[in-house]
Formats: sequence, C-alpha cells, structure tokens
Amino acid sequence: MRVLVSAGPTREYIDPVRFITNRSSGKMGYAVAQAALERGCEVVLVTGPVAITPPAGARVIRVESAAQMAEAVKREAAECDMVVMAAAVADYRPARIAAHKLKKQSGGMTLELERTEDILAALGAAKKPGQVLVGFAAETDDLLENAAAKLRRKNLDWIAANKVCDGFGADTDLVTLLGRNGEVVELPLAPKPEVAKRMLDVILG
Ligand code: CTP
Repeated sequence: MRVLVSAGPTREYIDPVRFITNRSSGKMGYAVAQAALERGCEVVLVTGPVAITPPAGARVIRVESAAQMAEAVKREAAECDMVVMAAAVADYRPARIAAHKLKKQSGGMTLELERTEDILAALGAAKKPGQVLVGFAAETDDLLENAAAKLRRKNLDWIAANKVCDGFGADTDLVTLLGRNGEVVELPLAPKPEVAKRMLDVILG
C-alpha cells in the first residue's frame, strides 16, 4: 500500500526575506508517516519546513509554499492508495511577492492577500476509485459540525477533528475521527504517535 502524508506549515513569501506562516510543528503528520511505515506501507512525506527529523524509510519531498505543496501532493497522489493531509496549508498568500526587500515607509502598510488552492478539495474532486482520502480539521468551536461539513465539502473518506485549545506544538492530541458513512470514533487523549497508530487502525482496519 502506498501512502502519501503531508505535514508541517507552509511559508508564503512577502519579499525575499519575509514570509507568513503558522505554528504547525509537523509532529502529527510525521507520526502518521511513522505509523504507516510500521504497518508496512510505502510512504511519501511531503513536508513544509519543520524542526523535527522525518521517519527513516519515508521518501521525503521538502516544499515551502502552498503552491509547491499543491504541485507535489497532486503529482504524488495519483500513485497512492491513501492520502493523509496533515499539513497546515496557508489559506491565503500575498497577492504579489516583492522581488526586492521592502523598505519601510512612514505610516502603516496594508498587505493584500489572495486565496491559495485548497489541495484536499482538489484531491477530493479528482479521487480515483478505492483511494482513501483523509483530512484534518482544527477547530475552536462547533468541532464536529464543522468537521463533518468539511468531510462532505471536500469529498473525504475520513476527517480527524481536533479541538484547538492550547494552540499548535503539543505532544498529545485529542482526536475524533468522522467517516463518510456516519462513523464517529473518539480516540483517547494520547501522545501523537499513539493517536496516529489508532487512526490507521480505524481507517485501515
Ligand atoms: N488544506 C488543503 N489545502 C489548503 C488548506 C487546507 O489541503 N489550501 C487541508 C489541510 O491539510 C487539512 C484540511 O484541508 O487536512 C483543513 O481544512 P480547512 O478547510 O483548510 O481548515 P481551516 O484552514 O481550519 O479552514 P476554515 O477556516 O475554513 O475552518
């Protein structure tokens, strides 16, 4: 079985020395990649810039921007039986990347942003028969309702809903898995490697 996992944040450049990013640590995606390797899967890990080491045995593709992640994920997904999108892909990027370092002016400044492509929605729209598509939903409010709506909107098979309380970077996670056929599986609060293993146990049986 070939599994594609995306992990980590993206960087959306403003100019050559500045970018917009988020606090994703990459820990959950790396844990899913590790758990898939332990099950004997072939693993491709498409990762944004993180401070942790990829699991041994995964084929690693390093990217920075959401556009680069989209290009790599869409290319690799065509050959994979399962795709787990654990990356915290930026929803917006600067409308223009300045070619030279921006100089400050007196007064404030406004940065114009534009939407990035929703990679998971694109994969959902182009899903090949039998391919299993898994997303993540990090929500502060109405966790299960929002996650279920995302599952349907993006044509996913499973979505891992997790409540954002302490922000990103924690070593443990509290996840509820929702399936496209109405399954609701609450996983216990556990270290991310344990959560990842249990997620694959539910999804792959
Ligand atoms: N995702 C993606 N491409 C994007 C944005 C997100 O593939 N451009 C994926 C993430 O990897 C994750 C899921 O979509 O699996 C998260 O869904 P999303 O709707 O982006 O969640 P939020 O960013 O929390 O969006 P919202 O503000 O709509 O809740």
